[in-house]
Amino acid sequence: MHTRDDGPTLAYINRTFVREPEWIAAARAAGEQRRPGMQISAYEGHLLRWLVRVSGAKRILEIGTFMATSTLWLADGVGEDGKVTALEFAADYAAAAVQHIAASPHADRVEILHTDAHAWLAASAAIPTYDLVFIDAEKTGYARYLEAVLPRLHPRGFIVGDNSLLFGALSGEYPDAASAKAKASMEAFNTTLADASRFESVLLPTPEGLTVARLK
Ligand SMILES: C[S@@+](CC[C@H](N)C(=O)[O-])C[C@H]1O[C@@H](n2cnc3c(N)ncnc32)[C@H](O)[C@@H]1O
Repeated sequence: MHTRDDGPTLAYINRTFVREPEWIAAARAAGEQRRPGMQISAYEGHLLRWLVRVSGAKRILEIGTFMATSTLWLADGVGEDGKVTALEFAADYAAAAVQHIAASPHADRVEILHTDAHAWLAASAAIPTYDLVFIDAEKTGYARYLEAVLPRLHPRGFIVGDNSLLFGALSGEYPDAASAKAKASMEAFNTTLADASRFESVLLPTPEGLTVARLK
């Protein structure tokens, strides 16, 4: 199935189901100006928020925040008693993300941490804390992120990884679309999560590919 961002299938889904609040659209517009194509689409944000709401996830960790567009979709899903901890290692992106969170209705649900996610995970306690972890940072890091976040996930917690089709590099459609290191990392990420003895998982064919797995 082809669900290109500019294709008729997604256009239909978007106009029928997806309503991006204006305070998320403002973060998106700032992100598109700085680095076009870095953020999840409104359709993917809507999907993430739906997953958060139907799963009842209350404690969320996001790895790779950029302007906080995805963070805001997650925060809109967790409800008043939920919390999103979002990690971003670029100082200017983290500062802009803080501003976008402050301008939203959900400032009390989000903490933006300016940090390298690998270092932060290595330094923080590996105890089950999160109901859902959303990974959307450098593609060479996904296998390491998965290893580090699994001990921090509650029983039946969710791992969600964006770009898990790696721009066609894993299917072979566009073999040169990613580096060998990124391919090895994402292949390990997907293969681990495809283990049906440990996870209930799917790889959704969104334009970027979204792997969603729940611990058994
Ligand atoms: C694809 S963008 C995230 C987009 C965002 N999730 C959204 O959809 O709105 C990836 C972000 O991860 C950040 N990043 C990359 N490596 C990181 C690391 N090791 N620790 C923390 N952030 C990292 C980058 O600076 C970049 O802002």
